[in-house]
Amino acid sequence: MRRPIIAGNWKMNKTAAETKELLEQLIPKVKDAKSEVVVCVPYTSLHTASQMLKNTNIGLGAQNVHWSDKGAFTGEISASMLLEMGVKYVIIGHSERRQYFGETDQTVNKRVIQALSSGLTPILCVGETEQERLSGQTDEVNRRQLTIGLQDISEEDAQKIVIAYEPVWAIGTGRTATEKDADETIGKIREMLSVMYSRDTALKIRIQYGGSMNSKNAQGLMAMPQIDGGLIGGASLKAEDFSLIIKASDSQKF
Ligand code: 13P
Repeated sequence: MRRPIIAGNWKMNKTAAETKELLEQLIPKVKDAKSEVVVCVPYTSLHTASQMLKNTNIGLGAQNVHWSDKGAFTGEISASMLLEMGVKYVIIGHSERRQYFGETDQTVNKRVIQALSSGLTPILCVGETEQERLSGQTDEVNRRQLTIGLQDISEEDAQKIVIAYEPVWAIGTGRTATEKDADETIGKIREMLSVMYSRDTALKIRIQYGGSMNSKNAQGLMAMPQIDGGLIGGASLKAEDFSLIIKASDSQKF
């Protein structure tokens, strides 16, 4: 069985002081969770979060990682910097990075390789824009992002990756994909992984849904057989909402 994983992507929200406040509320609320729980905080909150999450069941994540070990890359962050902060997970290839910061499938691939070789668990984001969906390119886009994003990654390493299917039109818009659509597309992504690797590996890789997931729609989404978790933006910034999503995951999957 794939263990469900619910990850919060805080994006560019919460100062270190605000991080402390939110985690103080969140930690007790999710302490008995059966699902894997992760928060991906801004770099400036990593130290605070890392101290607070020691001896809790919440894993710490970052929102990006550079592909080089170190060097002249102003504004970037290395895997060893993250590891020293106690980071275990890293979001790679989020659509906001692709859209606003020139992230490409090739740079995504380099970052995934670096994360894996450093022992970080990549949360690799894929998903189509509204335009691509309307022109019937959803599967083609997901296949391209997966094929290039996972280039040169061994079958053994692929099993360690978490994939987040995030249709761009559903992010921050309140327009969640229907349970059926999300489940179908994630099922197709699993088939693609099966072709790239093997059926056995595809069945082991966890695939999350992301895009306006909240405490109200989480039950329905988590009830779907292909959906192994969620990557949550807005609703992860409120301890109550995020913990309800985790409870929904627990109640549907265990
Ligand atoms: P929202 O949950 O705010 O739509 O964001 C989803 C997302 O982009 C998570 O990475």
